[in-house]
Amino acid sequence: MDDESVVETNPRDRDGVDPSAAFAEQANVSAADAAAFEGEWPDCWGRAGEMLEWLDPPEATFESAGDGGRWFPGGQLNASVDCVDRHLDDRKTQAAIKWIGKRGERRTYTYLDLYHEVNEFAAGLRSLGIGEGDVVTLYMPAIPELPIAMLACARIGAPHNVVFAGFSAAALAERMERADSEYLVTCDGYYRRGNAIHQKNKADNACLSVPHEVTETVVVERLDDESVQLGEGDRAYDDLLAAHRGAEVDPVARAANDPLFLIYTSGTTGEPTEVRHTTGGYLAHATWTSHAVLDLKPEDTYWCSADIGWITGHTYLVYGPLSLGTTTMLYEGTPDHPEKDRVWELIERNAVDVFYTAPTAIRAFMKWGAEHPDSHDLSSLRLLGSVGEPLNPSAWWWYYEHVGGGECPIVDTWWQTETGAILLSTLPGVDRMKPGSTGPPLPGIDVAVVGPDGEETTAAEGGRLAVTRPWPGMPLSLDGDERADEWRYVTEDIARIDEDGYVTVLGRIDDTVTVGNHRLGTTELERAIADVAGVAEAAIVDVRDGSDNSIFAFVSTDDRHEAERDLRERITDNVERSIGTFAVPETFVFTPELPKTRSGKLMRRLLKDIADDDELGDTSALRNPEIVGEIRSALDRE
Ligand code: WTA
Repeated sequence: MDDESVVETNPRDRDGVDPSAAFAEQANVSAADAAAFEGEWPDCWGRAGEMLEWLDPPEATFESAGDGGRWFPGGQLNASVDCVDRHLDDRKTQAAIKWIGKRGERRTYTYLDLYHEVNEFAAGLRSLGIGEGDVVTLYMPAIPELPIAMLACARIGAPHNVVFAGFSAAALAERMERADSEYLVTCDGYYRRGNAIHQKNKADNACLSVPHEVTETVVVERLDDESVQLGEGDRAYDDLLAAHRGAEVDPVARAANDPLFLIYTSGTTGEPTEVRHTTGGYLAHATWTSHAVLDLKPEDTYWCSADIGWITGHTYLVYGPLSLGTTTMLYEGTPDHPEKDRVWELIERNAVDVFYTAPTAIRAFMKWGAEHPDSHDLSSLRLLGSVGEPLNPSAWWWYYEHVGGGECPIVDTWWQTETGAILLSTLPGVDRMKPGSTGPPLPGIDVAVVGPDGEETTAAEGGRLAVTRPWPGMPLSLDGDERADEWRYVTEDIARIDEDGYVTVLGRIDDTVTVGNHRLGTTELERAIADVAGVAEAAIVDVRDGSDNSIFAFVSTDDRHEAERDLRERITDNVERSIGTFAVPETFVFTPELPKTRSGKLMRRLLKDIADDDELGDTSALRNPEIVGEIRSALDRE
């Protein structure tokens, strides 16, 4: 374990691992396919467009313009046709959505079931006066009615605006107001740790504070009891369906560049920003990457553990897999209930082929112990994926060995709400994997790392990751940079590109610390700490004290960790070895957990407030607010 904890010099990470011959043989995309795709940009993306069913084919693959340009101009399509109708010939009785509810309920929708319910609900929405271009807000937990409502909106050309169910009334109201959305589909409530959460009350409060009128509210009845009464104007989802039993709705032809949905990025700081995704480019990009990177096949059972409220759930739980005719699993529960082996039990019971999750989850699994995955038959798994944060090498290896049995390739996929779909990843049947590095840009994607002067840089400390050519999943009106008549999109991510073109994300621009004269990615430092045996996760914050910076390391430990003093010593050693003595944090705070938002992102701002001994800012986005007090007392003991 000790060798493995050295980040920069570990030969195992530097050399990486090749995908097995068995995987490569069956992969959707071979080296030859990748080379063929790599051809002339932007025409290569025409192949992704060909994976869709067009009501009217596009006149071109791409048309450039000052704001980045348009994909598939002239094309007309409807996303519900791609995700539902076109599968009826070959797989009407195959499961499209497999739902596992929080109370152990199971519901399966075949593609034919999905077709009927999407049509009936689309007819229901229309009967309420909702038409093409109207924004419909969807505020529901992980229940099948959520993807069904998304597809029903798509069918009538009404862009959806999914708001994560855990958001407060104020956050919902803000998003409805910004989206100018007069229609809401929500539910009466849902269960959390056995208690009923009254979602409808939050929705009602939000509607009261939206300055415009909310014309129609549809309510899915999720709770078993009758404790939540529907309001006077509210419609029950089931009644609306019943009133349109057997209805079929002609899919509305949408231009490739009409918005399919809008989504607000879940900032851990600052204001929510609206991102509008297109119908043609987005769906082509989602479909192609689900095929090429996640290697999905129609006969697969696939599980993406993200919530539909975030972009990952939109692209890789709903649109990508359904467009390919795959069985997509939707799990309402939590990973540690009733037991910490819940995820592995579900993978075994459902014979899941491909599992896509986030580093924060993988590190939690690690912390709970390998005995949980080890006690299940996970041999159905063929491929593993990760998204959302850098996946540190020790977590990579743990995932590879204990979940993938040393045989499943791992795709560490980099992308953002703004990019709509994956831009950086190894191709699982083609490229060597290098733990800690996401991989090269996909064929048809170009990136560069730029320094403070905006020029490309190869500096060791990296620079901002920029996408230097438009990509199909790009949203409408993205803030791009126009330089010498070249358009590019510069991200907030700090990254470095190695000699093989592999990108390592070092942190976000808002997540860097300065020690001495060095700018360090917090991720780099966190990785050096997290890779020490006994450490589950680490978060670095720097606190400015006059002109001096002081670095705090908040460290969450394994359930079975040793004495703090020894751990501290070994962390210090590892930081010294992998980065340098200057980078060793002044203050260590050991804690059972780090504060996380409901989407699983570390709430760094809060740690900064704690370290600064400042008044805490807004903590309403926290999943584990109780940890704040514990961290404070741990800090007081320091
Ligand atoms: C980070 C989630 C390292 C990155 C799809 C990005 C990653 C932000 C990775 C977007 C990865 C995502 N390695 N960092 N594989 N994937 N990120 O909008 O900082 O919720 O800019 O989209 O997550 O987060 P968002």
